Amino acid sequence: MESSSNAVELHQDVAGSGKTNEIKGSDKVFFSSYAHVNIHENMVRDEARTQGYRQAIMQCSDLIKGKVVVDIGCGTGILSCFCAKAGARKVYGIDASSIIEQAKQVVRENNLESVVELINGKAEVVDLPEKADILVSEWMGNFLFFEGMLNSVVVARDRFLKKGGLILPGKCTLFVSPVDCRKLYERRIDFWSSTKKTYDLSMECMIPFAKKCLLGSVRREDIPSESVIGPAQPLYDLDVNTVTLKGLDLVKGDFQVTCDRSTSLTGFATWFDAYFEAPGKDTKVLSTSPFSTRTHWNQAVLYRDEGIPVKKGDVIQGSMTLTPADLNERHLDIKLSYQIGDGQREEKMYNTWQTPGPVEMY
Ligand SMILES: C[S@@+](CC[C@H](N)C(=O)[O-])C[C@H]1O[C@@H](n2cnc3c(N)ncnc32)[C@H](O)[C@@H]1O
Repeated sequence: MESSSNAVELHQDVAGSGKTNEIKGSDKVFFSSYAHVNIHENMVRDEARTQGYRQAIMQCSDLIKGKVVVDIGCGTGILSCFCAKAGARKVYGIDASSIIEQAKQVVRENNLESVVELINGKAEVVDLPEKADILVSEWMGNFLFFEGMLNSVVVARDRFLKKGGLILPGKCTLFVSPVDCRKLYERRIDFWSSTKKTYDLSMECMIPFAKKCLLGSVRREDIPSESVIGPAQPLYDLDVNTVTLKGLDLVKGDFQVTCDRSTSLTGFATWFDAYFEAPGKDTKVLSTSPFSTRTHWNQAVLYRDEGIPVKKGDVIQGSMTLTPADLNERHLDIKLSYQIGDGQREEKMYNTWQTPGPVEMY
C-alpha cells in the first residue's frame, strides 16, 4: 500500500499482496461502461443526486471531521473529495474502472492528495491499511437493485467498516404506485401499424412481439406526476447497515394502494428515496420520485399488456419479488402479482435486459 504522501498513486498490486486486480468476464463489460465520460457526466450533472450527497456529507461534517472514510466506487472521486472537504483525516476511494485515472487528476486539481488515496481494484479484492469509520457510496441502480452494486457495498462494509461505523446512505425505501401512462410506450407499439402507409407493407403481426419485448422489460421512464393514480406505497425498506448477501438473493415487498381516481391502470411505477441516518441527523439525500426534481434514474415502470379500467376507491393488493437474473446477476427478474378489489389475481414476469439506459441529463 502506498503511503499517503503518494496518495493518488494507483495500486495495481493489491497491497503488495501479489493478489491481482484482473477484471474478468461480465465484470469487464460492467467496469468498462464506467470508463467513459458519458456516464460520469450524467451522474455529476444530476444535481438532485450530486447536491443531495454533497449537502448530506456537509451536514455530517461534525461526524466526518478527523475520521477515516472509504468511498466504494469512487468514479471521478467526487464523493471522496466532498468527504475530504468535510474534514476527513483520510479518504480511501476505491474503483475498479479506469475512470480512477481521472479521479486522480480531480483530487490533484483540488489539492486533496494529502487526504484522498485512490485504490484501483474491486472492493471485494483490494485491501486497506486501516479500518474506516464511515463508508460512503453511490451504488443505487434502476429499481434500486439493478446493477447489483449493493452486493459489493455489503462485502466492503464487512471488510472495511469499523463495528458501529456510519454508512452514507444507510437506508433506502423502494416505492410503488399504480399509474396511467400508456401514451409513453404506445407510439412504439403503434409504429407497426404505420408501415403500410410508409412502405406499402403491412407489419401489424409485429405488434404482439413488440409488446412482449417492450412490456416484458422494466421501462425506465420519466413519469409525469399526473400519471400516478394512487399514493406511493413503500414496497421495501432497505437497511444497508444490516442487509446480507443472502438477503439480496430474494427481495420481496407487499403493497396495498387505493386508486384516487377512475381511469385506466396501465402499470406500476417504482422509485426510491435514500437517507443518511446518523446520530442527531436524519436527512433525505435524494428522492427519485415523479413528484421530485428529475434525476437520471427516472422511474422504473412495469407495464400491463393492456390498460384495465379502475374506479376511484378500488383497492389494489399486490407483491413484487426481485431476484438476480440467472444469466447475469447484475440484472433482475421481477415477479409482479396483484389483484384489483375482488378481481382475478394477475401475475407477470419482467426482466431488466432491455431496460433503456438512463435519460441523459445533458
Ligand atoms: C454509480 S458510479 C458512482 C461514481 C461516483 N461515486 C459518483 O458518485 O459520481 C459507481 C462506480 O463504482 C464503481 N464500482 C462498481 N462496483 C465496484 C466494485 N465492486 N469495486 C470497485 N468499484 C466498483 C464503478 O466502476 C463506478 O465508477
